[in-house]
Order: sequence, then structure tokens, then C-alpha cells
Amino acid sequence: MSSRHILTAVAWPYASGPRHIGHVAGFGVPSDVFSRYQRMAGNEVLMVSGTDEHGTPILVAAEQEGVSPKELADRYNRIIEEDLVSLGLSYDLFTRTTTRNHHKVSQDIFTTLHENGYIFPKTTMGAISPTTGRTLPDRYIEGICPICAFPHARGDQCDNCGNQLDPIDLIEPRSRINGETPIFVEGEHYFLDLPAFVDTLSAWLATRTNWRPNVLRFALNLLEDVKPRSYTRDLDWGVPVPLDGWRDRPDKRIYVWFDAVVGYLSASIEWARRTGDPEAWRPFWQAEDARGYYFMGKDNIVFHAEIWPAQLTGYNGDGARGGTPGPLGKLHLPHEVVSSEFLTMEAKKFSSSRGVGILVRDFLSRYDPDALRYYLAVAGPETSDTDFTWAEFLRRNNDELVAGWGNLVNRSISMAAKNVGAIPRCGALSGVDQALLSRSSAAFGPVGDLLGRSRQKEAVREAMKVVADANRYLSDQAPWKLSDEPARRDTVLHVALQVVDDCKALLTPFLPHSAQQVHELLGGTGTWSAMPALREVEDLDGGTPYSVIMGEYGGEQATWQSTPLPEGRPLTPPTPVFKKLDPSIVDTELERLESAAAE
Ligand code: MF3
Ligand code: ZN
Repeated sequence: MSSRHILTAVAWPYASGPRHIGHVAGFGVPSDVFSRYQRMAGNEVLMVSGTDEHGTPILVAAEQEGVSPKELADRYNRIIEEDLVSLGLSYDLFTRTTTRNHHKVSQDIFTTLHENGYIFPKTTMGAISPTTGRTLPDRYIEGICPICAFPHARGDQCDNCGNQLDPIDLIEPRSRINGETPIFVEGEHYFLDLPAFVDTLSAWLATRTNWRPNVLRFALNLLEDVKPRSYTRDLDWGVPVPLDGWRDRPDKRIYVWFDAVVGYLSASIEWARRTGDPEAWRPFWQAEDARGYYFMGKDNIVFHAEIWPAQLTGYNGDGARGGTPGPLGKLHLPHEVVSSEFLTMEAKKFSSSRGVGILVRDFLSRYDPDALRYYLAVAGPETSDTDFTWAEFLRRNNDELVAGWGNLVNRSISMAAKNVGAIPRCGALSGVDQALLSRSSAAFGPVGDLLGRSRQKEAVREAMKVVADANRYLSDQAPWKLSDEPARRDTVLHVALQVVDDCKALLTPFLPHSAQQVHELLGGTGTWSAMPALREVEDLDGGTPYSVIMGEYGGEQATWQSTPLPEGRPLTPPTPVFKKLDPSIVDTELERLESAAAE
């Protein structure tokens, strides 16, 4: 297999609060499953992200908590990083948007877009809060839709008729922050000339036949009604506007979404600088073989399928106004925008109406990361909104992870440990033995193909079918009844262990923590599946130190193939890899949600 450069670009969570399991279902676990598979398949992977720390979401949260935006971002950057590390998400770099490197790269992109003529100034009427004097961003204004009369249209768009709106056109506009009526005042802003990218982006989307159909349809729809979009804001928190007369203004900043998507590039550059080869990011963005896969929840599609590609097109000088590529040279547009739908909580009862979610850290304080990862992989919102229920979590954990995979691992290794104390010798293989062995080694093909196309649900189900076949084989061959035929017994156990080892590899992208345990239970040493770690680092350009997630994934042994187990390698009796959960957790957890909703 020839090796490719794969950029895994993971949506940047706002550092405005702790993240709940719905968030990691969208951007987190799927991007890690994908990256781990790609590394095992022998590709060069760069997986980057960070916390999104600018804009109104941060300002509003900081105000509510009575701290400065920087303090707020510091606090939640840390909390979010701890959660993502606990889940085992294998970022090459998870950084922040408040670094000097990020500010500089964002400004450089802005400058080139301006030089190429894709950013222009315009006077507009902007909404202001009469009590704070601060700008009210479009999506924080609500009112009656001027087109369909839906009473809860937002300033930027109406979720009922789907039209893009201007806040000044809303009927009876009010602030979603405190209910007051905004006032509209004139101001100057810079706009991104989105219509100048429509032809280039249409031609590009026409080649994106690999995308999930719902994502592609959504992206194509966006191009039907494109208007210039304001790319600066009246804020004192964010990346300064790098233009003469604006650079030092305390009241104007670049729009948060402009700099957030640039994060994929700035984080790649920061990663390269930290590895000691400042040019190491280039193959992931510029090489012929490179492919960028972007992972997010569906509310982010517009920014990844339209806005970021538009910014890149303008930077490359490829829009209707032409231009020359910026100083970094031409950069690839996304190969695929892999978007998930939403994970709701207990029949929507909690998430939408009462704003209650299950925090990642609460979840992981009571359950193992692989139990959550398994649930999200097998029952997550891959192509449609999906409901999380504790009853289903219990069932998936107990019936599939524990009684299926865990049981296969446990009984095959304990029989081998007890009877042989080592990986048993493999004698002559029967037809059934052969069939199971080729079944499991052949599974790497189709399961890998599904993972490469981000059909993760189907991939995990295919892998679990091999587990089921292996359990059936053990029951049929009943090695525990073969004590007077030790050679045959050992062959059966050898076959079973080989298939356990294959399934361990097939499940590694989904279950990296338990895969490492199974590796050790089979007598393996060293790192099978590598884990990320939190690190305190200096800002590379003289800013304040901060924490990042990094990892050494190059040294892991995990590969995407069947690897023959060495006969005679010592085995000891296993301890269970997965925990069976008591059915009472369902009621306990529902009560927790009820009391959180009541607060
Ligand atoms: N912070 C945004 C959100 O939580 C996601 C930003 S993704 C990036 O919805 F593209 F901007 F990086
Ligand atoms: Zn409407």
C-alpha cells in the first residue's frame, strides 16, 4: 500500500464551557477513529485542532461567569484538553486560537485576501445592545421572520424557511442574551466577497462525489444564494484587523469564524515548528497525494464546505477576481467534509428543551472511555440525528462489549493460560479452523475500506460480526471438552487467540484503550495503541505559556493487518477488560438528568 499524507482537521470547540458527549460525538470520536485507522494503514497523519477562544460566545460566557475572556478561555481550554485526553483522542497538536502564531497566520490570510481584492470595506447598519453598548452579533438576535413569519428566526437565518436574513429586517427584534430591543447604528466593516468564489466552488463541489449525500446536498444548496459576508466585528476581543488605520483600533476585530477555520493551517504550522522542521506542515497541505478530511457536527458545515474553501480559493488567487497565491503558496481545499448529525439526550427531553447534556468529564468519572467510544461508534449520529439513552448504553455495553468482545477475550485467554500457560501450538487445521482464520484476516479489507470512507457504523458492525463468529466457533469446538485430545484443544485455542488478536486490531480505531490491554493479555509488550498527553509549552513567539495536547504515535505497533501470534509466548490468566454495568445505573442517571434540568 502506498502511503499518503492525511490531514485530519477536527472542529475547534469553543472554550466557553465544558463539552458534553454530544460535542465529542460530532467532532471528537469520529476524527480519532479515522486517524487511528489511517496511521495503522501506513499513512502519514496530521491531526490538528484546538480551542476556539474568540468572538461573542466567549465574551458572553465570560460575562456570565464574571471573569475576563482570557481567564475564561484559560479555564476551559484546560478542562476541554483534559477531557479529550481522557477519551484518548490522538491529536498531533491540539492548541488554541490565542497563540501569537495563530494570530499571525490569520492576519496573513486576511492580508492576502485583501490584496487579491476579495475583502472590501462597506458601511452597514449593525445591532448594538443599548445597555452594554456592545455589538449584538446576528445570531444573538431573534425576531419574527420577514419571509415566513416564524416567530423565532435568528438574525443570520430562519430555521423554519431556511432563508438567510439580515437582522435589521427581523420584525420585533430582541436580544437573545437579555431580551432587550437592539438599536441599529452605522458602522464600517470589511466584507468577504463570497459571490466571487461561486464558480470555483461549484466546480470544486462537482468533483466531491465521495461526500456523504446529505452534506454534499447542503453544500450545493448554500451556493444558490451567496452574499458578501461581514468579516470584521465591533469587539475588543479577537485577532486585530491587519490593515492600515485598523491595526491598532481597540474596537475592531476579525470575525471569529474567519480565524477559527484558519486554525487548521496555523495549528499545522505550529506543529511543524514544534517538531523542529518548520516546513513539515507543507506535505499535508500542498503535496499531490495529500488529502484533508474535516470532522464536525452539522451546524458547522457552512463554514467548512463554503467559507473556508472560499478563503482558501481567495488566498490561492483562484476566484473570479484572480490574484496571486499568498506567501505560503497554494493550499489544498478540503478533500472531504465529514459531518455528523446531532446526538440528542433521552428523546430530546433534556438537550433541546432544557439545555441539559451529559458532560464528558462526568461521564468518564463513572464509565470507561472505550464504553463511550463504542456507544458513539455503533449508535452515534453518523448520518441522522440519534438519541442517546442510558438504557441503550447499558445494553450496548453489557450485551455487545462485555458479553460479546470481552467474553471472547476472556474465555479464550483464560483457557490457554490455564491449560498451556502460553500461546498454544497450532497443529493441523480443520476446514472450520481455516474458514474462521481467513474470515478474520480477510475482514481488514472491507472494514478498512469502510473506515477510509468514514462509514464507521458499518465498519464497527462488520468487525463485531467477526467477534460473533469467533464466539460461535469456540462454543462449537468446545475446547474445554477436549482434555483427552490436547493437540486438537491447543489448535482450537491457537486459532481462537489468533482471531482475538485480529479483532483487537480491527477494533483498535474504536477501542484503543482496551486494544492495548488485549495486546498485553496476549503477552505483547510495548505500545500497541499510543495515547495523547497534555503538555505545558512556551508560546513560540514570546506570548504566555499554555497547554497543548500532543502525542508520539509514530512508535506504536498497531498495524492494519493480521499478525501471526508467536507460539509459546507466555500467558497469564486475564482480568476482565470491560466492566459489566448494573441495570440500576439507568434510573440513577435519569435522576441525575432530572435534577440537573430542575436547577
Ligand atoms: N467553535 C465552533 C463550534 O463550536 C467550531 C469551530 S470549527 C473551526 O461550533 F472550523 F472553526 F475550527
Ligand atoms: Zn422564515
